[in-house]
Amino acid sequence: MSTSNPVIARAEAFCAAYGLRVPILLAPMAGACPASLSIAVANAGGLGSCGALLMQPAAIKVWAAEMRAGSNGGFNLNLWIPDPPATRDAEAEDAVRAFLHGWGPEVAREAGDVSPPDFAAQCEALLEVGPTIISSIMGLYPPPFVERMKAKRIKWFANATTVAEAKAAEAAGADVIVAQGMEAGGHRGAFDAAKAQTELVGLFALLPAIVDAVKVPVVATGGIADARGIAAALTLGASAAQIGTGFLRCPEAKLAPAWADAIGRTLPEQTLVTRAFSGRPGRAIATAYARAATAPDAPDPAPYPVQRGLTQAMRDAATKNNDIDRIQAWSGQSARLAMAEPAGNVVRELWSGAQTLLR
Ligand SMILES: Cc1cc2nc3c(=O)[nH]c(=O)nc-3n(C[C@H](O)[C@H](O)[C@H](O)COP(=O)(O)O)c2cc1C
Repeated sequence: MSTSNPVIARAEAFCAAYGLRVPILLAPMAGACPASLSIAVANAGGLGSCGALLMQPAAIKVWAAEMRAGSNGGFNLNLWIPDPPATRDAEAEDAVRAFLHGWGPEVAREAGDVSPPDFAAQCEALLEVGPTIISSIMGLYPPPFVERMKAKRIKWFANATTVAEAKAAEAAGADVIVAQGMEAGGHRGAFDAAKAQTELVGLFALLPAIVDAVKVPVVATGGIADARGIAAALTLGASAAQIGTGFLRCPEAKLAPAWADAIGRTLPEQTLVTRAFSGRPGRAIATAYARAATAPDAPDPAPYPVQRGLTQAMRDAATKNNDIDRIQAWSGQSARLAMAEPAGNVVRELWSGAQTLLR
């Protein structure tokens, strides 16, 4: 690498600060980030990552132990900042249950009574594990937790989908902003769920705007899945690129084969942002269920996490049967670029290609 190139020099400075050899971060992906994937990315010089949203404290500790056994690289543990409790509406939920019966097993009324793992207990587990980085999405950690994180010298990476969110995160003490463009696969990280489908900013507009608005380093995420995307993101001011969908076809991701295969053939216009799986807007492949559930005659999905509970039986059956029509097939708009290769090869190919473009 040549440090005379300011774009590469910025990425090198970021790598030096976080003990990386390559400015590529595996995106935290709840339900799709086995330690095997992080180990492969970290051993190739990138950053491993765990989306711990759905994990109990014990499972978070097991993940970290497995990661540390497989790699001495740093890693990122990620949580969602909880939304206010959902308002329930039995009649509306009945309409969703009736609709879902056309797509899977009958849904019991109690299926909507889901209680996600206790956030405070998850936070304690994160501090106990003591990763290099703790990241957030959907909001900001409470100030006392930020103080405790900083006392342990853990860095805070905060996901932002708008300039206003990025500035709020910096003011709250975030060490790095992760600028999430609306191309991104999975849930959109809008702090206010009600704005997730109206404030849809693409990465080419969002990234330079956030870089200009904050003093801390910015990581780019959303629709980056090849060397061109990485080179573009770094040129637009990012210090590193965070990739989710681009790693989901790697064997270490252990994805349902129908989902991994569909990622390989999905064009940008064949994904959509929908509340139909969880109640929070997220980008998924426009599968048969996703299209039917977003049609004008479909019932309005219940709020998060009620909808997640209501769709659980369908999603479980779909994964078991490897049925892409009903799988919760999160995917970013650059899905087609994802390589079905070991993750270490992906990291090496992407970074060597980006360096060639940046020279
Ligand atoms: C399957 C899946 C699960 C995700 N889960 C989380 C999560 O738990 N926490 C989070 O901060 N972001 C999550 N995301 C968003 C990613 O961190 C990242 O923003 C996104 O993957 C970037 O876009 P790309 O998929 O086009 O690379 C998820 C994305 C996917 C595809």
